[in-house]
Amino acid sequence: MSGQTRYLNDLQTLVSLCKRRGFVFQSSEIYGGINACWDYGPLGVELKANVKKLWWKSMTKRQDIVGVDAAILMHPTVWKASGHVDGFSDPLVECKDCKSRFRVDHLKEAGKCNNCGKTSLSEPRMFNLMFKTFMGPVEDSAAVVYLRPETAQGIFVNFENVQVTARKKIPFGIAQIGKAFRNEITPGNFIFRTREFEQMEMQYFVKPGTDMEHFETWKAARKSYYESFGFRPENLRFHQHGEGELAHYARAAFDIEYKFPFGWQEIEGIHNRSDFDLTQHQKFSGKKIEYFDESSKEKFVPFVIETSAGCDRTLLATLSDAYREEVVPDEDTGKEDVRVVLGFHPELAPVKAAVLPLSKKPELQEISNRICAELSEDFVAQHDEAGSIGKRYRRQDEVGTPFCLTVDFQSLEDQCVTVRHRDTMKQSRVSMSGISTYIKEQLKNFRGEVWK
Ligand code: GAP
Repeated sequence: MSGQTRYLNDLQTLVSLCKRRGFVFQSSEIYGGINACWDYGPLGVELKANVKKLWWKSMTKRQDIVGVDAAILMHPTVWKASGHVDGFSDPLVECKDCKSRFRVDHLKEAGKCNNCGKTSLSEPRMFNLMFKTFMGPVEDSAAVVYLRPETAQGIFVNFENVQVTARKKIPFGIAQIGKAFRNEITPGNFIFRTREFEQMEMQYFVKPGTDMEHFETWKAARKSYYESFGFRPENLRFHQHGEGELAHYARAAFDIEYKFPFGWQEIEGIHNRSDFDLTQHQKFSGKKIEYFDESSKEKFVPFVIETSAGCDRTLLATLSDAYREEVVPDEDTGKEDVRVVLGFHPELAPVKAAVLPLSKKPELQEISNRICAELSEDFVAQHDEAGSIGKRYRRQDEVGTPFCLTVDFQSLEDQCVTVRHRDTMKQSRVSMSGISTYIKEQLKNFRGEVWK
């Protein structure tokens, strides 16, 4: 029935759409693929760039937050100090029968192999998740370096460099986006748990004693952030870490969880890391890492409130939340039909506008190419001339393009184009001369049906 809407309830539907439309491909697919590594295609790379751009802006538009971009390879003692060499391990069991390996806490039934169902599992042994490699031409233990398992340490070791050069007073934060690597025992659920991924982390340095107040403020701010991009509120919640769940560095921790088709899972962690990291780096480097507070004349090691989001997980949540199937009239025939829409917030949409000439006649092509070139100066626009108009609208709906601009024969007379809106499917006639400004205004004021 017209108006009926169905949201995403199985991951495979999304995986297929992502492959079919060029969002995400299996890494090294022509060689049979490599487990838990994924490549972003033309639309995926635009979506990911938007996820990162919006996060970066939300942090660095504040006067009290600045950015860094630290190296992936760091001095190996960093990971000794941070606790990752000794503590960043998961309990691994192996099935003696089929040789599959699992994290103990990922077993669907205690003591039973997830793959063959037999009960011949080995005793758990701790497995360190850091990838090792060698620096320089000699492959011996003295040359071992790690691929960073979190971006945070690049911020901690640069605390003083940043504080002094940016002349920041506490409280202030340092933001960073970058790759992290974990040799996960049980990766899976598409881009949810992978071995190579990107993090968007911000460490906020505060005076000891004020840490819980800042923790609460960041917790609320980060949940509102997702809501501001239209994530359906019923798909977001907090999960508080209990005593046994807390990471080795954390004093308090909350996850922001998203309701994926495979259940509630973490997309971001907000952690009170106390002075754990800076104190450890003081100890292992032998260098003082202290802050001198001019007003109170006190010296102290700052406490850290961390907001740590996964870029790939945010992207997966964005896609999951945006996906909907709707029964609507077909725009070619008028008959009821199911359309697939990615109802992205326009700031996240990989393509903002598509220009569709009604026919391949040169006079229409000339206009539509000109409009597309003009729009492309400001945002990603696509030119699409293949198939009926209704089919082209559907193609753009499926990748979440907020606006389609149709150039028809009347355009030659009245110098106007038809603008069709993704969510309402309503159309309006707009003058070509002001089209770029019109789309920019529409994007700014956009309130699609799902985002109300
Ligand atoms: N610096 C703190 C830290 O790294 P975490 O909870 O281990 O904390 C933070 O990771 C975020 O990084 C997670 O909320 C998740 O979004 C992302 N993340 C962690 N492991 C991941 C993996 N294997 N694949 C994809 N994203 C991952």
